[in-house]
Amino acid sequence: MKPLVLGGRNGDHLAVELAFLKGFELGNIEVKKFPDGEIYIRVLSDVQGRDVIYVNSLQREPNEAIVETLYTLDTLRDLGARKIIAVIPYMSYARQDSRFNPGEAVSIQVLAKLFKTVKVDHIITIDMHLHRISDPSALFGANFHNITGVRELGKYLKKHHSLTNAVVIGPDEEAEQWAKIMAEELGGLEYSVLEKTRLTAERVVVEAKGVKVEGRDVVIVDDIISTGGTIIEAVKALRNLGAKDFYVATVHPLLVGDAFSKLLRLGLRELVGTNTVLSPISKVSVAPAIIEALSKLI
Ligand code: R5P
Repeated sequence: MKPLVLGGRNGDHLAVELAFLKGFELGNIEVKKFPDGEIYIRVLSDVQGRDVIYVNSLQREPNEAIVETLYTLDTLRDLGARKIIAVIPYMSYARQDSRFNPGEAVSIQVLAKLFKTVKVDHIITIDMHLHRISDPSALFGANFHNITGVRELGKYLKKHHSLTNAVVIGPDEEAEQWAKIMAEELGGLEYSVLEKTRLTAERVVVEAKGVKVEGRDVVIVDDIISTGGTIIEAVKALRNLGAKDFYVATVHPLLVGDAFSKLLRLGLRELVGTNTVLSPISKVSVAPAIIEALSKLI
């Protein structure tokens, strides 16, 4: 029997695409809210004995999306699904992976514990911060697959722009992994990272020490654009060093508040994101990357 694919409110667009591209059966879930704000979930497809792929990003409204996702996954198991693959294109709370200040919740660990209770077989997620998590499978209680959307972004940039003289830049140390993949995807370009200090959730300082970009085009790649602060400061620092045109790519375009209009004002040659989270810049689909991961599991 074909696998059944189901989408939550932040994953339906990808569920439809996966079904269309792979010939999976597309199922239905009813999600609504009671007048008091509680969520109501009803799985409308018969999942008994089936391999089920459930897709939902834990954004927008991350707290709502978490409840929706966990209630749905638990219900799928309860209704007799055989194998459950949770595709969580954007895993929220991953940046709170340590107690940075005394008394803080290590939110991703709490979220992982909640996932553990619903017992799914596999979790596929995309470019999640795993810097301080050494064994995500043990933490989440499921076979954990952290895949990348950066290759899809690279293919898009390669198709639409001529970037043979460009330098790829990650705006902070943690972004080196994405800069490396992007540089490979663009045919072996040079790559480098900047130094970022976060002052508040909205404010960062970015320094470009020893980076040679004078007269050259720059591709900036980061996992997330949230307030846009990181990209804005990175562009400023690189412009001061004489960089020419900017091409900015991100996997998760959260674009909170007025981030999109602030980024538009930078005069970038390209601003592109994937559809892990739907946004005005979600021009690239991560469906091919998800399909590649799924092909090893079903
Ligand atoms: C942080 O470590 C991430 O990699 C991103 O750089 C960050 O989330 C971007 O946030 P913002 O757009 O608010 O600067």
